[in-house]
Amino acid sequence: MKVKHKGKELDVTPLISEEKIRERLPRLAEEINAAYPHDEVLVLLIVLKGSVIFASDLSRYLKMPTEMEFIRLKSYEGMESTRKIELLMPIPPNLENKNVLIVEDIVDTGRSLAFLRQELRKIQTRSVRLCSLLNKPEAHEDPVHVDFEGFSIGKNFVIGYGLDLDGKYRNLPYIGEVRVPRF
Ligand code: IMP
Ligand code: MG
Repeated sequence: MKVKHKGKELDVTPLISEEKIRERLPRLAEEINAAYPHDEVLVLLIVLKGSVIFASDLSRYLKMPTEMEFIRLKSYEGMESTRKIELLMPIPPNLENKNVLIVEDIVDTGRSLAFLRQELRKIQTRSVRLCSLLNKPEAHEDPVHVDFEGFSIGKNFVIGYGLDLDGKYRNLPYIGEVRVPRF
């Protein structure tokens, strides 16, 4: 398929199929289920907006009682990562003494996550770990440890299953790579 960006039509090639995602989620959830007691609350700190589809699908395989909290960061403009990270929502107030699992769509430069972890250090949580559907290890600039990783991918820009280009295409059921033409 093709998508529009800045007046140009760009090709999207499938990278991770709907079926591959469906197979991976219960296994990823098993890793999380094995890492936490099943009788304690786990707070899913869901990073808006890209993680919403992933988090809602993943959460249904988790065995412990979960709470869902949301946070919104801003870093990306179009297909470029900006240097500045902003918190567009306050950190939820009820994370104290809780196991907190950050749920992200993708770790690219790692700046957003480094920033969020730093913000969370101001609160007395019991633990903070990170689950990300996608990870781009070659793009990391800030060191980020992904505790639970769905898929490791290359540096190319991807859309679908929650991930957007200019706010659109989050509803694609698979993950596709956006091919930027080289001149
Ligand atoms: P980072 O701070 O560079 O790690 O970027 C984190 C955020 O940028 C992610 O949570 C996404 O919202 C967005 N992002 C990074 N790479 C992509 C991509 O390939 N497609 C769509 N959004 C992306
Ligand atoms: Mg995100």
